[in-house]
Amino acid sequence: MNATPPIRNGNLAHPDAMRFVDGERLIAHLVRLASFGGGEALNDGVRRETLTPQELAAKQWLCSLFDAPGYRWLQDDAANLILRREGREPVLPPVLVGSHIDTQPVGGWLDGAYGVMAGYEVCRALDDAGIRTRRAIEIVAWTNEEGSRFAPGAMGSSAFVQPALLDSHRQRRDAQGVPFGDALAQALQGLPDLPRAALGRAVHAYLEAHIEQGPVMEADGRVLGVVEGIQGVRWFEVTVRGRGAHAGTTPESARQDALLAAAQLIADLHESVLALGDDTLRWTVGKLEVAPGSVNTIADRVVFSIDLRHPRRERLDQIETLLAERAARLWSGCPVGVKRVMDKAPTVFHPMAVAAVQAAVEATGEPACRITSGAFHDAMYLASVAPAAMLFVPSIGGISHHPDENTAHEHLIAGARALTAAVLKLAD
Ligand code: GLV
Ligand code: MN
Ligand code: MN
Repeated sequence: MNATPPIRNGNLAHPDAMRFVDGERLIAHLVRLASFGGGEALNDGVRRETLTPQELAAKQWLCSLFDAPGYRWLQDDAANLILRREGREPVLPPVLVGSHIDTQPVGGWLDGAYGVMAGYEVCRALDDAGIRTRRAIEIVAWTNEEGSRFAPGAMGSSAFVQPALLDSHRQRRDAQGVPFGDALAQALQGLPDLPRAALGRAVHAYLEAHIEQGPVMEADGRVLGVVEGIQGVRWFEVTVRGRGAHAGTTPESARQDALLAAAQLIADLHESVLALGDDTLRWTVGKLEVAPGSVNTIADRVVFSIDLRHPRRERLDQIETLLAERAARLWSGCPVGVKRVMDKAPTVFHPMAVAAVQAAVEATGEPACRITSGAFHDAMYLASVAPAAMLFVPSIGGISHHPDENTAHEHLIAGARALTAAVLKLAD
């Protein structure tokens, strides 16, 4: 299976290859992928968190999609799943195209899945057009982009660009106490026949197609977005330590209630952040674990998350200083500890890769709109080792991380067409 794909149309102009995108095939693949962890209807949502049996079953199905000469399936030590389409000059660094197939605890059918399936459709379109590119193309499904089961997010892509990170990722645990390292080892064994690719390999360029996940493109009536960068993101894990005691007998004066303390701290931080009057700041507490979690026992320990985002690093620093100052106080007599578990500076995509996406969008006949991503993506890590860029399609109602997440089929297909032209330009 190391033969290269056949050439029929060696000189086909890049934009012409877009004609070979098969929209029905793309949508059918997306719908099938959604069935792994999904319900009867697409808007039942998808439950396919990272390194779960649902994700493994989806990967096994993906591997059955390309069993043809010129293709090879690989995985690396971070369980990133790679489909390599061989190029005419196999020694050259490949063009990577990717996203993720893990979801939020209950996610939509397109977040991540779209970028992976659009990448496969690019390969199919190139096959049907009879094009063999100069460089190899690799379609990658990155591990644990979401970070909902194991924080931080984008573990697979961060370990790809900085392999030393994998050791600290391995120590992170999910809510059941399972170490990421154990779940990773099990997932790797689930695809025992795949050869191992190296982390930290040279990459010529990286492209990622994704749904916008916000309301901007739909409001502006745009179909294809050229993404110029990604706002900065920091995640914190805040631990409030109280003293567990009997709910029926312990007087107020003798309590150290970790849940009450957490509620006070969260409300205080929320007001302080709002008082800055900065409409571009995003501040979210989305996860809170209470121990021991009993109706009639005062909370002993609360751990909650903070997701903080802004396009400017200085603003992130300012909020982090505020958080440290508040955490240094006692809340209802409870001490607070703060651990930063993710810190990604704002990303500016490479002009060459952005220009390739822009030209590809223009070739579809759609006007290109420039946009900065509010969500983070694996592209933010790939951008540190190779020219990277992203392509957005609109989200209906701006909804994402929710079962109602959706995009018009013709917009998904238009995105795959533009992606095909952009990949071809970078790979030739
Ligand atoms: C990605 O899932 C994000 O939270 O931006
Ligand atoms: Mn995503
Ligand atoms: Mn997501």
